[in-house]
Amino acid sequence: MLRNGVHKLKDALVFATGRNVVPVLTPESASEFHALVDSAPLVIWTTNPQGECTFISRFWKTLTGRDPECDLGYRWCQALHPEDQARAASDLTAAIQNRGVCVGEYRVRRVNRHYAWVLDRGVPYFDQHGEFAGHIGTCVDISARKTLDAKIDILVLGMEAERKRIARELHDDIGQKLALLGVALSEIEHLLKHEAGPIKKKVRQTRDLLGEIASDTHLISHNLHPAVLMHLGLLPALRRLCNDFSAQKKVYVEFDGDSSYDDPSSEVSTALFRIAQECLSNVAKHSGAGAAKVVFRHGLDSIQLIISDSGCGFDSSQTLPLGGLGLISIRERVRMVGGEVQIHSAPGEGTKIIVLVPSRMQFRKTAGRKATAA
Ligand SMILES: Nc1ncnc2c1ncn2[C@@H]1O[C@H](COP(=O)(O)OP(=O)(O)O)[C@@H](O)[C@H]1O
Ligand SMILES: [Mg+2]
Repeated sequence: MLRNGVHKLKDALVFATGRNVVPVLTPESASEFHALVDSAPLVIWTTNPQGECTFISRFWKTLTGRDPECDLGYRWCQALHPEDQARAASDLTAAIQNRGVCVGEYRVRRVNRHYAWVLDRGVPYFDQHGEFAGHIGTCVDISARKTLDAKIDILVLGMEAERKRIARELHDDIGQKLALLGVALSEIEHLLKHEAGPIKKKVRQTRDLLGEIASDTHLISHNLHPAVLMHLGLLPALRRLCNDFSAQKKVYVEFDGDSSYDDPSSEVSTALFRIAQECLSNVAKHSGAGAAKVVFRHGLDSIQLIISDSGCGFDSSQTLPLGGLGLISIRERVRMVGGEVQIHSAPGEGTKIIVLVPSRMQFRKTAGRKATAA
C-alpha cells in the first residue's frame, strides 16, 4: 500500500514539477526515495482529481499520532480542529474547481491532544495528456511561529496602550501645568510693565521659552497618540502628519489621498498611521532626500498606502534586520491586520514602501466620531 503511495507521489512530483525528477524507480532508488520522503520533518501528501488523499508521508504519525494509511481518502480531516474542518474542505474543493493552488493554516490534533498549527500548501498537477490529476502538497508545523506572532501582537497592542497613556498624561497633566505657568509669567510681565531693564527682558525670554516647551510637549503627545486620528479619521490624520513633517523636518512631503470610502477600522487606521510615521521618520533619518510622497488609496477590495522617496536607498533584499526595529515593526503591524508589505529599495535608487490591506478588515464605520480637530 505504502509502496503504491510512493509511486503515486513520484508521478505527482514528475507532473507537478514538469521534470522527470525521479525518472525510474528501481528497487534501490525507490527505497531511497521512500526513506527521503518519510524522514522529511514535514508531511507530504497527494490527492486524486476528486480530492481524495492517495498518499500521506510518515511525519503525519509524528505530528498527529495517526496512521497515515488509515487517514487516506477524506479521513485525514478528522485530525483537524472541528472549527477548521469545513474551511479545509472548502479550500480544497475551491482548488479542485479552479485547478489552482490550495493554501491554508489549520489546527491539527497532536498525540498529546493539544493542537498544532500547520501551514498546508498544495499545487495542482496534470497527467501526460494535460488532464488534471490532483494536488501534491506539504503540511508544515508552524506552531512556534504562531506562538511568537501572538506574543508580538500582545507587545504591539501593549505598546499602543502605553503610548496612549503617556500622551494623555503629557497633554492633560504636564500640558495644563505649563499653560498655568505661562499665565503666571504673563501676570508677572504685566506687573513689571512700568519696569525697564533686564528683569522685564528676562521674564519675556522665560515666557517665550515656556511657549516653545509647551508646543514641543503638545507635538510629542500628538505623535504618541494623534487625537486627529481618533476624532477625524485616517485621511485627515495622514494629511496632517505630512504637513507637520514638511514644516518640522525640512523634507517636503506631498500627500495624495482618496477619501471616497468609509474609514477603515481603528486597528487598520492605527497600523497605517504608525507605518506612515515610521516610514517618514526613516526618510528624514536615512534617505537624505528633500522630498517624499505619501499616497493613500481606498478601493473596494483593498486599501493601499505608499510612501516613497528618491533618496540614497538601501539594499532591501537583505533578509537580516538592517538597523533598528522600524522595518520589523512595519511588517508586524501589517501582518496583524492581515495585509502585506513590499519594500522596494536599492542603493542610489530611492525607497518605495507599499502596504496593502484587504478591505474586509474595515469592519467599523466612522460612527461616533466627533468633528473636532486635535
Ligand atoms: N527611506 C530610507 N532611505 C534609506 N535607507 C533607509 C530608508 N528606510 C530604511 N532605511 C535603511 O534601513 C535600515 C533599517 O531601518 P529601521 O528598521 O527603521 O531602523 P532604524 O531607522 O532604527 O535604523 C536603516 O538603518 C537604513 O539603513
Ligand atoms: Mg527607523
